[in-house]
Amino acid sequence: MSLEWNPQGYARLQRRYQRQYGLALIDRTLPYRPSPVGTLLDMGCGNGVLTNDFFGRLLPRPHRVIGVDRDTGMIAAARKRFGRRAAFTWHCRSLTDWIAQDRSLYDLIFSNAVLHWLDTLAALRSVLQWTALHLSRDGLFAFRYSLIGNAEAARDFLESQLRVFLRARTLTLHRPVVSFAQSRAIMHDSGLDITNAEEITGNPFDDDEQHFQWMIYSQPLGRYLSKDQYASFCAFLRAAWEKTPVRVAGHHGVFIGRRLARR
Ligand SMILES: C[S@@+](CC[C@H](N)C(=O)[O-])C[C@H]1O[C@@H](n2cnc3c(N)ncnc32)[C@H](O)[C@@H]1O
Repeated sequence: MSLEWNPQGYARLQRRYQRQYGLALIDRTLPYRPSPVGTLLDMGCGNGVLTNDFFGRLLPRPHRVIGVDRDTGMIAAARKRFGRRAAFTWHCRSLTDWIAQDRSLYDLIFSNAVLHWLDTLAALRSVLQWTALHLSRDGLFAFRYSLIGNAEAARDFLESQLRVFLRARTLTLHRPVVSFAQSRAIMHDSGLDITNAEEITGNPFDDDEQHFQWMIYSQPLGRYLSKDQYASFCAFLRAAWEKTPVRVAGHHGVFIGRRLARR
């Protein structure tokens, strides 16, 4: 499994940014939830903080909560913090591997800020099709992910600085693969019926420092840099960014729904 994210740095950004969006998604999901939610799957659970937030807002509590994430460091953080909770199980697995082997049904399938990391449209389709087949009768899905156009200026800047730092001629950062309209169509084709959806665009941060932190903590820099290079790249990036402070424009989609009724 991979070690791409910086779990400590991510936790700092999560407190001020990602968790607020995650909690808003949970609040938006609650009115539609089946009752009770016996089983909850969090796809790309990261450090488990949001999985635990969801668990804490459900009464009665789910008896089975599964968090899946491919990043070794993120799953280690989840295990360290929530490993003693009897209902929770944390799996270090990519979603592609997970859907190839898991045959369970879930009352709730949740995912915050993950599905845009699937590398291809085909992979996204597979995850959505699997979701439609693995929701229980009244089961609900709730997804939030970045759309094409998300944070392009910040990603362009990060990509160009990585190229200079690594003296790499070609280095392309991963970008989201779908728009809001495409997402709706793909979900429908995959057997999912959207009940509530919104395209959310805007400036997610109140101060410039958060824009910089987004670049170093909300991107899996370990995919491009060795551990030894990480700290000096962050210093290098900061010097460049102080000359040209690039800001992140948030653009993501929220989708809540059930599986399509069989025709
Ligand atoms: C921005 S973090 C979000 C974490 C968590 N959902 C939250 O809201 O705090 C993205 C997470 O998705 C995970 N991820 C990305 N692609 C994945 C894949 N193909 N399979 C499993 N996990 C993946 C990363 O390892 C990372 O922990």
